[in-house]
Amino acid sequence: MRVLGIESSCDETAVACVDDGGVRSNLISSQVDLHRHFGGVVPELASRAHLSNILPVLSAALEEAGWTLDEVEAVAATAGPGLIGAVLMGLSCAKSVAWARRLPFVGVHHIEGHILANDIERPMTLPALVLVVSGGHTQTVWMEAPGRYRVLGKTRDDAAGETLDKAAKLMGLGYPGGPLIEKLAAGGRAGAISLPVGLRRRGELDFSFSGLKTAVRLRLEAMGDEVSEADRADLARALQDAVIESLVLKTAAALDALGAGRVRGLYLAGGVARNAALRDAFESLAAARRLVFTPPPPAYCTDNAAMIAWAGRHRLLAGQRDSLQLGAFARRPLSSWS
Ligand SMILES: Nc1ncnc2c1ncn2[C@@H]1O[C@H](COP(=O)(O)OP(=O)(O)OP(=O)(O)O)[C@@H](O)[C@H]1O
Ligand SMILES: [Mg+2]
Repeated sequence: MRVLGIESSCDETAVACVDDGGVRSNLISSQVDLHRHFGGVVPELASRAHLSNILPVLSAALEEAGWTLDEVEAVAATAGPGLIGAVLMGLSCAKSVAWARRLPFVGVHHIEGHILANDIERPMTLPALVLVVSGGHTQTVWMEAPGRYRVLGKTRDDAAGETLDKAAKLMGLGYPGGPLIEKLAAGGRAGAISLPVGLRRRGELDFSFSGLKTAVRLRLEAMGDEVSEADRADLARALQDAVIESLVLKTAAALDALGAGRVRGLYLAGGVARNAALRDAFESLAAARRLVFTPPPPAYCTDNAAMIAWAGRHRLLAGQRDSLQLGAFARRPLSSWS
């Protein structure tokens, strides 16, 4: 089935073409430069940029796939969660194409897209435990099959990506912070600075990162105005290590809670999954628990439309359709559809 996918939940205008053989095109018009000046995404600017970018990106994605609009068989778009004005731009565009061409249409939960990014290049080993680590979400999800999900633990305050972004802003590094922290941390010394891991108690499945963010702020204040490059690198290393320790600890706790035999695959999803140290830590965790671990392709970790088209394709192939009355949503927990 040839599916056109559209993603516009935050600051990337993305369109992809996928079919039974995989991804035919996957284009992203990034707004990072537009928002960098503000140190974060400005919702109104994001919506306006989506509006002006969406049709050119759609045309280019079709062209790269070698498809005409006549060859598209179904349309999928992110329906949420995300910035509501931004989601509406891509969703409305997708509905318009579906209406004009009388095509089947599905709205996709953005987090299901992140999870199923792992399924694009090879089928996932299921049942699996997936750690979703993105700019807005941090949660462990037990996945029995595409469409069957149970959230086990989630963050009580900030998401892991949000913590890295906010800490990077405090450190004057820029936006988005995750990749900048990773780069700086490479020159830092392990253990030179110690930072707290939230909700550390045994058996606790939820995450907490707000204390870590405060600890970074206090540490920076204590360092004063003249912070050396070496100190900044040590702080970045400590922050990255604390985030990863928390992610591994809670993933291990979720595996313990599920019990032996209920998980075969371990996966990472979302933008923070690009982080090499986190991938290494998951490699070790999977080896210790005798689980299959395949890191997601970096291009499918941060927001993209291939993952949305792929998740939509699963629902379409299962015979599901959404009405063109489907609304956009800013927040909604991940739920099962199968
Ligand atoms: N190499 C990296 N190391 C750590 N974090 C990273 C890296 N690359 C990207 N990130 C982080 O990933 C996040 C963006 O991921 P993503 O695009 O999945 O989030 P989002 O779409 O904004 O949030 P959500 O998917 O929850 O709605 C940012 O917080 C960014 O700092
Ligand atoms: Mg995302």
